[in-house]
Amino acid sequence: MSKLRAKISGIHAWVPPYVLTNKELESMVETTDEWIMTRTGIRERHILKGEGLGTSDMAVEAVKGLLDKTHTSPDEIDMVICATVTPDMLFPATANVVSDKVGIKNAVSFDINAACSGFLFSVVTASKFVETGTFKKVIVIGADKMSSITDYTSRETCVLFGDAAGAVLLEPTTEEVGIMDSIIRTDGAGRSHLHMKAGGSVKPPSYETIDAKEHFVYQEGQPVFKFAVTKMADVAVEIMERNLLSSNDIKYLVPHQANMRIIEATAWRMGILKEQVMINIERYGNTTSGTIPLCLWEWENQLKKGDNIILAAFGGGFTWGSIWVKWAY
Ligand code: UT7
Repeated sequence: MSKLRAKISGIHAWVPPYVLTNKELESMVETTDEWIMTRTGIRERHILKGEGLGTSDMAVEAVKGLLDKTHTSPDEIDMVICATVTPDMLFPATANVVSDKVGIKNAVSFDINAACSGFLFSVVTASKFVETGTFKKVIVIGADKMSSITDYTSRETCVLFGDAAGAVLLEPTTEEVGIMDSIIRTDGAGRSHLHMKAGGSVKPPSYETIDAKEHFVYQEGQPVFKFAVTKMADVAVEIMERNLLSSNDIKYLVPHQANMRIIEATAWRMGILKEQVMINIERYGNTTSGTIPLCLWEWENQLKKGDNIILAAFGGGFTWGSIWVKWAY
């Protein structure tokens, strides 16, 4: 009997309409468009505005579009995984909220917190349920409202992040397409360089934690940069080597979009050209769990069945990983 694989059979994404440009940021903190572009490659990012709107509202748009495009009824969905570090609430899981809002009634749903590698970790997790024949239709969402944990008085972080949501449908196949191989890794020692100081069980919210601005992303840029630049490239190269893939075999690298310099270094280590890399950081910034599905969505029309693509991510935790996907349609 031929091997059961999980294939990506659809992709959709959604970004909120409001665009926060580097020009506008220049009026908010001491920064320049030139600094942001040179150091990060970001020119603008989308921000979710509006009282009472959260990560689930963006994810709902992505999932509704995905169901429409793939002619799938909410009743058919067996599982929903939402990768996010900005859940609507600490509990219940945002995946549950999304399922309820979309009318998905027959699915098990939960969140995965692996920061910027969250979408990648979630696709790997979901693929195991599909490969074992446990589930037939699984939705994986990558969604973050990073503006809800960004300090807009801190130039070190506020220029980096944006809001977005993307979702893929995974289904079983016996063809030679889909999730072909994956590597996921973590190193908890890295948590000191990238985290949120308060709001969890160690330091519940208080007037003091709010005054100390401890409910925002805390990042030591340089140590994170050094780790990211090495680890993301390491796993991307490892997955190529162990599957005997040369740079010519790769149609696209789909990297997490945190910094243009990290993306370029990864492409260089893999020996691939810039034309073989999906890059949209300039228009969206770092949307955490949203970056990879946002790229796949934008490049969907340029992908053909059988194309080899490598997804690669790095994020807080530290977490990192890569997936070799053979595009299925
Ligand atoms: O997505 C999850 C993982 N995260 C990442 O992969 C992010 C990795 N890190 C980075 O991408 C980069 O470290 C940053 C983009 C965050 C920062 O770039 P950098 O080249 O590492 O800059 P830096 O932090 O070393 O700062 C250089 C200078 C500092 O000034 P001094 O000390 O040299 O006088 C900063 O205060 O740039 C200053 N600076 C800014 N200046 C203008 C920091 N932010 C800004 C800003 N505008 N927005």
